Amino acid sequence: MNAVLKDLSTIRPMSEHDLNPVIAVEQAIYPFPWSLGNFRDSLSAGYSCWIYESGPDLVGYAVMMVAAGEAHLLNLGIAREWQRRGMGRQFMHHLLKVAHDYHAAIMLLEVRPSNTAARRLYHSLGFCDLATRRKYYPAEHGREDAIMMAIHL
Ligand SMILES: CC(C)(COP(=O)(O)OP(=O)(O)OC[C@H]1O[C@@H](n2cnc3c(N)ncnc32)[C@H](O)[C@@H]1OP(=O)(O)O)[C@@H](O)C(=O)NCCC(=O)NCCS
Repeated sequence: MNAVLKDLSTIRPMSEHDLNPVIAVEQAIYPFPWSLGNFRDSLSAGYSCWIYESGPDLVGYAVMMVAAGEAHLLNLGIAREWQRRGMGRQFMHHLLKVAHDYHAAIMLLEVRPSNTAARRLYHSLGFCDLATRRKYYPAEHGREDAIMMAIHL
């Protein structure tokens, strides 16, 4: 008989207990990471904060603000060893469903023009480029623009 492989991955709300592993991944995948305080503030503010895990492993995390009919994706990270395995896409489907369930009409996000991986992911999900925010991000030499992307839900 073939062995049955169980899918151990789950997506659940983030809590304070998750912050140490989250910040470890954040620091490993971003050149300009969020601080612990940024995540703590997001939890205290009641933002929609999520953990994606597989068994005991942290696959990724996301922070989204939903208010006044708009969902704004503030952070999405997939741990380096889990990247390019479809997890980011899977996570985005979850976040789009959450935003839809909150009756948001649109989801917005900012992304660096240099972040080809993320831009491809968002475009493939149906996001389009909406506007450019000049000098939005810190960068190695000065600042980098952000592309604001949007999808109607
Ligand atoms: C961007 C990120 C979330 C993508 O997550 P992921 O799990 O690796 O992505 P997936 O495996 O689900 O890939 C989905 C699509 O994204 C694109 N993509 C992902 N990684 C890519 C890469 N390294 N190069 C080019 N395209 C890539 C592809 O279009 C891919 O579809 P395909 O596999 O059919 O070609 C992940 O790379 C990450 O956490 N990066 C660091 C943090 C970050 O940039 N977050 C987003 C900030 S806006």
